[in-house]
Amino acid sequence: MGCTCVVGLQWGDEAKGKIVDLLTDTHDYVVRYNGGANAGHTVVKNGKVYKFSLLPTGILQPGLKAVIGNGLVVNPVRFFEEVNQLRAAGVAIGDNLVVSNHAHVIFPYHMEEERLSESDGNASIGTTGRGIGPCYMDKVGRGSGIRLGELLYPDHLRARLAAIVERKNRLFRGLSADARQFDAKALAEEYTQYGSQMRPFIHDTVRLLHKALDNNKRILFEAAQGSLLDVDHGTYPYVTSSNSSTTGIWSGSGVPATNIDRIIGVLKAYSTRVGRGPFPTELNDGPDGIGQQIRRIGREYGTVTGRPRRCGWFDAVAAKYTVRLSGATELAVMLLDVLSELPEIKICTGYEMDGVAVDHFPGDAFLLDRCVPVFETLAGWNVPITGARRLADLPAAARAYVDRLGELLGLRVGFVSVGPDREQTIVS
Ligand code: IMP
Repeated sequence: MGCTCVVGLQWGDEAKGKIVDLLTDTHDYVVRYNGGANAGHTVVKNGKVYKFSLLPTGILQPGLKAVIGNGLVVNPVRFFEEVNQLRAAGVAIGDNLVVSNHAHVIFPYHMEEERLSESDGNASIGTTGRGIGPCYMDKVGRGSGIRLGELLYPDHLRARLAAIVERKNRLFRGLSADARQFDAKALAEEYTQYGSQMRPFIHDTVRLLHKALDNNKRILFEAAQGSLLDVDHGTYPYVTSSNSSTTGIWSGSGVPATNIDRIIGVLKAYSTRVGRGPFPTELNDGPDGIGQQIRRIGREYGTVTGRPRRCGWFDAVAAKYTVRLSGATELAVMLLDVLSELPEIKICTGYEMDGVAVDHFPGDAFLLDRCVPVFETLAGWNVPITGARRLADLPAAARAYVDRLGELLGLRVGFVSVGPDREQTIVS
């Protein structure tokens, strides 16, 4: 079949873009199936740095068709910003990019709705502020959701926005006296224009992908965020609003999971998380501590928001759970080089809750919050490894660390990344 998925097994930012980039030349289509411009993927290719938020990173490969699936929420302003940025960097974008007519549209009132909810200390999730949650709420709520294909019908759009904006304005006024108010007519005009600009890109992507499968085309699915941020299976409520594990592929693209024969679970050699929510292995050890050292060496700052990422040790309890959940068939261990200066390295192999051993990953934030990690300690290697190109080039302690991760998770480690460049990858 030749269909592959690259999925993050932690809280996002696992450097999935690099693995996608390595696989693009053996695929014909690359598909994003969840999220929106909340994602941040960085790909370094031929010494150039490319930043992605909404578009599939696979679009860097000439000849590949990039698909934004029905499971996404699309802000047309961000869409054109990214298209223009990539064009300016020399990336050809034309009929190699298609967007689902059933993807949902993010409007400015979604950002306002998010602002109002995030400024309420009790409701705050620590989101990226891109309108993702409110747009998915409207999709699931049905009455106020607008799909991309609807932007192509000006009269219909005007009528829908008139009703929706009136409701939103009332709701916002009730929530806060200083809430922004919106003008339905102006929005309808603006979004009709975006619709006509996007028209060449808008397609029935489900049909397109089914045809691709009929023609034995190889499809690469590119997940955004990480499995622990999945709205159903992550650390709810501190999650994103889509199915960011592999569970979202079927609903978010229309391609049944039975077509996928390779699932690469991507993990950092340590853990990070942005935003609020439980993080059992977090290193809160101050400005001179290991947490800060990992942040500095790994440049652990959010691509979208610039927020410092919270850093901690590798959590094998969480990863075992996401390996099962995602159906991973192999692992990619990323950013191993970031740990090279540490004298010893810890792996969380179990939790204790109220003094009792827990042998599974609790799927509720309030329970996970009470879990205390149990660590095993491995020796560090204390030499740079950025020049390693084969497993045999790694120092024994680094090799032992990678082997231990594979052993704990019961999977083969197919990729080890030792630096940002494409070449700095061990494929085994
Ligand atoms: P939202 O997706 O903007 O609603 O944010 C919900 C949670 O997911 C917040 O904790 C964000 O920091 C987190 N999040 C969203 N997108 C990403 C990502 O691409 N990487 C890491 N965390 C993310």
